Amino acid sequence: MAQQAYKQTESSEQLANEVVLRDLTFIAESLSEDFKQASGKTILITGGAGFLGYYMVQSLLAWNKANPSLAPITGVVSDSFARGKPEWLTALSDNGALNILQHDITQPLLSEMLTADFIVHAASIASPMYYREHPIAVMDANVNGLRQLLDHLAERRDTQHPVSGLLFFSTSEIYGDPDKDNIPTTEEYRGSVSCTGPRACYDESKRYGETLCVNFAQQLNLPITIVRPFNNYGPGLKLTDKRLPCDVARDVLSGDDVVLLSDGSPTRTFCYIADAVIGYYKVLFRGKPGRSYNIGNDKPEISIREFAERNIAAAREVLDYKGNLSFASSADADYLTDNPHRRCPNIDRARAELGYEPSISLEDGIARALTWYAGNQSAEEE
Ligand SMILES: NC(=O)c1ccc[n+]([C@@H]2O[C@H](COP(=O)([O-])OP(=O)(O)OC[C@H]3O[C@@H](n4cnc5c(N)ncnc54)[C@H](O)[C@@H]3O)[C@@H](O)[C@H]2O)c1
Repeated sequence: MAQQAYKQTESSEQLANEVVLRDLTFIAESLSEDFKQASGKTILITGGAGFLGYYMVQSLLAWNKANPSLAPITGVVSDSFARGKPEWLTALSDNGALNILQHDITQPLLSEMLTADFIVHAASIASPMYYREHPIAVMDANVNGLRQLLDHLAERRDTQHPVSGLLFFSTSEIYGDPDKDNIPTTEEYRGSVSCTGPRACYDESKRYGETLCVNFAQQLNLPITIVRPFNNYGPGLKLTDKRLPCDVARDVLSGDDVVLLSDGSPTRTFCYIADAVIGYYKVLFRGKPGRSYNIGNDKPEISIREFAERNIAAAREVLDYKGNLSFASSADADYLTDNPHRRCPNIDRARAELGYEPSISLEDGIARALTWYAGNQSAEEE
């Protein structure tokens, strides 16, 4: 039975803003030593208008604000805005420490991108529902776009102003569908991946991207690091992005039942975005050249069904939600093809080499995420 949709109010907007402020403060404080070494430097973030960009960009600005006596970090966001320019980024247009560029990473680099001290390559559609519609564009961004940035690093290597670090966003999907002996999955695991299936455009271009990074780092002695993110959720992930956490939030806010388009049995560990962004910057600033790092949570590994149920339980508390969990089949025949059964990282390398330690519980993270969605519905509609 259809229930009432959740109505955004001034107070829900305020609560959502408080979540963001608290998260940005937490990120900026946790990275204070790392951001200090980037004081006065420029960080280019390709694909910075996306989900991860939301906190990666704003945490730099939060650090600037909290450290007025230090030279600010300048952020340069380049993004194709293929699915529109987000409101949060437009709202930052007047920030003197941020330069926003419309640019497709497969096209020649713009002059404003050629002076960055650090480069984060995050441009690539991450939602399976969307990347399967644009497989060639996904491969181009992860291979040709990356290659262009690596050539740029090589060109600047022996100049007065070399690039100090490049971080490539790979993915946990490069592991494919690991057998139980490789769960939790270490960085040494080689993967069990289809090179021709519907997800191959993403998985295989990330794998080749990693190969490019490792060989540029080794042969040319360049400061290139790789991160493999494991299932992030939280503020910045658009309600319309067709990934599990936002699909669940969208159903909750509509007041209808939360609908899973599978039996909900595959398992994942979920990492709240504030914890994840700290890990990403640590890989950029502290990672060893040519090395990849798992970043995510190593516990709890729960089923997708349990993730939905925990969201429903939190929504009852936070949003007075009355719906339940239900199941349906996707009209898309490839929806579940090559979907991994289990996904759980071993994060010992990031712990030991980067001092990475995620600390936000699933319960807390889900409550923060739902609070953010409740106050950002209008901004997130397309
Ligand atoms: N979010 C996760 O849990 C997760 C997990 C694994 C890997 N990653 C990787 O992290 C990176 C960022 O992920 P996200 O969740 O923010 O993705 P997203 O889809 O939310 O954002 C990606 C951004 O890249 C831009 N983009 C895409 N192709 C581009 C191109 N050719 N030129 C310029 N801009 C382009 C898009 O417009 C978008 O703003 C991606 O490389 C993704 O593969 C993310």
